[in-house]
Amino acid sequence: MARNARAPLFQEKQGLKLTEPLLIRVRNALSAVKRPDGRDIVTSGAVQALTAEPDGRVRFALEISGDEQRAAETLLAAAKQAAGGVDGVASVSAVATAHSASPKPPQSRGGHDNPFGLKRTPEVQADALGDVKAVIAVASGKGGVGKSTVAANLAVAFARAGHRTGFLDGDIYGPSAPTLFGVSGKAAMADSKIQPMDAHGVSVMSIGFLVDPEQALAWRGPMVTGALRQLMRDVAWGPLDVLIIDTPPGTGDAHLSLIQSKRLSGAVIVSTPQEMALADVRRGVELFRKTNVPIIGVVENMAWLETPDGERNYLFGEGGAEKAAAALGAPFLGALPLYPDLRVASDAGEPLAADDHPAADDFAALAKKIGAAIGS
Ligand SMILES: Nc1ncnc2c1ncn2[C@@H]1O[C@H](COP(=O)(O)OP(=O)(O)OP(=O)(O)O)[C@@H](O)[C@H]1O
Ligand SMILES: [Mg+2]
Repeated sequence: MARNARAPLFQEKQGLKLTEPLLIRVRNALSAVKRPDGRDIVTSGAVQALTAEPDGRVRFALEISGDEQRAAETLLAAAKQAAGGVDGVASVSAVATAHSASPKPPQSRGGHDNPFGLKRTPEVQADALGDVKAVIAVASGKGGVGKSTVAANLAVAFARAGHRTGFLDGDIYGPSAPTLFGVSGKAAMADSKIQPMDAHGVSVMSIGFLVDPEQALAWRGPMVTGALRQLMRDVAWGPLDVLIIDTPPGTGDAHLSLIQSKRLSGAVIVSTPQEMALADVRRGVELFRKTNVPIIGVVENMAWLETPDGERNYLFGEGGAEKAAAALGAPFLGALPLYPDLRVASDAGEPLAADDHPAADDFAALAKKIGAAIGS
């Protein structure tokens, strides 16, 4: 136990050397570069194998299709210039690689890619996240650490700070958004698009608004992938500053599908303080790292319980997730305590972040840090 009178509950880490955010800044700068057809080089998938070393060396490949050959040199120069202009970048090595234009995949009306059997119009097939500035996945190596709770409260905190915010419940088998946000019923359709639900200022979408939970339980991997893709692509997200995606426990099809969408701006890893959390944090961090998704940072959840006289009781040991983050070279964003009222509030669909509760300040502080890291 330690005495921490009047200290803010959310324990922020100051003065960190954030290496990953350099990668995020470079990605952001690169996404200002447009291909001849108007799509930016990041979200259209042209930027491959992007890495940013702590010493400022940046590398990437620019994959250019056959019919863009003539513009290749200009595009590569523009991309190098954009990356080189980012604060903290010391050198940029980039190569252009050509591939022959691949035939478009057939448009399915059902099957794995379209489990909801939506009728498609050409404009629905376009990237529905085109107007979403930042997409953040909240993940953990292990289940039950409070991912969904943290993700939902974080979304509410972003919305309260004035950001246009969406929440995508990526847990196809165990959706929790309907409970956490206190919304039920079936999502409406308009112009062949699924309309998100509005709750606590957040645009929320979950498989729970589309099918009966038992139906999704029978789905296999490819169906999960298809369902997630649809939740990203066929939902009328509209213009958003930030979309928070809650992910299922562990690292599986859903994570790979999100990574393959090439739309993730970064990942936030949630962990509990136990010693064994190191292995869990490592699993989460490594999956995203291997696939070049920047790690925004690690959040330690349920770190301590505050006693009525203001003492912190570190029930599960102190600083486990912070040590794990340090060992992996990932930024540590801070720690959240056990809030005795949280479970009840969550079950009632009233996120504490929406309330006049100390937790709201903690989630606001966390949202601010994450916002700063992704430059929003
Ligand atoms: N900081 C906290 N204080 C108190 N209770 C918490 C806190 N964070 C989460 N909880 C509670 O812990 C339980 C698990 O949380 P949650 O469902 O968010 O975890 P999860 O990681 O999303 O789980 P899963 O891996 O099953 O998706 C819930 O009952 C939630 O209310
Ligand atoms: Mg969850």
